Amino acid sequence: MKVGENMDKKILIIITIFLIIILIIVGYVIFSKNLKQEFGEEQEMAMQNNTVNNDTSFDFETKTVTLNSGYEMPLNGIGTYSLTGDECYNSIISALNSGVRLIDTAYMYHNEEEIGRAIRDSGVPREEIFVITKIYPSQFDDPESAIELALEKLDIGYIDMMLLHHPGDGDVEAYKAMEKYVEQRQIRSIGLSNWYIEELEEFLPQVETVPALVQNEIHPYYQELEVVPYIQSKGIVMQGWYPFGGRGHTSELLNDETIVEIANNHNVTAAQVILRWNLQRGVVVIPGSSNPDHIKENTEIYHFELTDEEMQTMESLNRNEKHDWY
Ligand SMILES: NC(=O)c1ccc[n+]([C@@H]2O[C@H](COP(=O)([O-])OP(=O)(O)OC[C@H]3O[C@@H](n4cnc5c(N)ncnc54)[C@H](OP(=O)(O)O)[C@@H]3O)[C@@H](O)[C@H]2O)c1
Repeated sequence: MKVGENMDKKILIIITIFLIIILIIVGYVIFSKNLKQEFGEEQEMAMQNNTVNNDTSFDFETKTVTLNSGYEMPLNGIGTYSLTGDECYNSIISALNSGVRLIDTAYMYHNEEEIGRAIRDSGVPREEIFVITKIYPSQFDDPESAIELALEKLDIGYIDMMLLHHPGDGDVEAYKAMEKYVEQRQIRSIGLSNWYIEELEEFLPQVETVPALVQNEIHPYYQELEVVPYIQSKGIVMQGWYPFGGRGHTSELLNDETIVEIANNHNVTAAQVILRWNLQRGVVVIPGSSNPDHIKENTEIYHFELTDEEMQTMESLNRNEKHDWY
């Protein structure tokens, strides 16, 4: 009897151990399946975001680029630094008459009122025009008031793109204020100006919205060869200021023998070659001008194309020569 009882106990223990092992295996399979599913979904979302956000390619037919915010922005515009009063008003009217639909201004340029007035007077439908303005670091301690001021001065209903003009104390909070105005649909897209790789590495993890645009100094003598692809790889559109080197430097650039030679190949001007070179690198241009002929000339950059060799020759002109401190 005792031998039989012992045998029963042993069989019971073996069956129990067997059942426990089965339970552990089943539990593990279910757990790892859930884990895989969660990870897969996250990965899919990341991939979806990547495909939506990372395409900064230019459409040369429509002359626009689609920003990561979903809005379209023209590839060429007019810059208004140092244009004020009637000169600014007339330049904007002239630009709109020449088909320019992108205007760059800033609180610091003291011309938002004239630009708004020119837009309202022009007869061009508001929705066809893309206006960029910027708030200055001195305004970062009260960004809501700065944004309200820009809206009031421009008086064109909404702002297409607002940038932080420079890095500075309170920039993250100022950016978050701009995000709120995007939610309220008073600003459509937001971005940064004068942010380079180091500044972006520090800034981006602190904010929700990937900037739609970064605007930095770019011209043949200062090409930002590393910064441009870095910014574009994040799905951010790159825009260049001082395309002709900025006032005081334009004559050197526009008479650069290499650029003039390329211009002669295509029967265009050196200014047009510089603008076209920017576009072919995926850089949006906002040349400044108050001369109606120059304004028109600066729009005629779609009927010719620089060859790969010419693009390389342009690249060889880089001197890392910055023409301003920021
Ligand atoms: N985010 C920033 O920190 C920052 C800084 C600087 C500038 N920006 C923006 O970038 C824009 C461009 O910079 P910018 O205007 O100072 O300098 P720029 O565009 O490099 O040069 C403007 C100068 O080029 C001349 N010009 C324009 N078109 C020409 C042409 N086709 N042929 C010959 N000369 C021509 C203009 O003279 P005419 O008037 O005689 O045509 C003017 O003197 C600014 O207006 C501003 O919107 C931003």
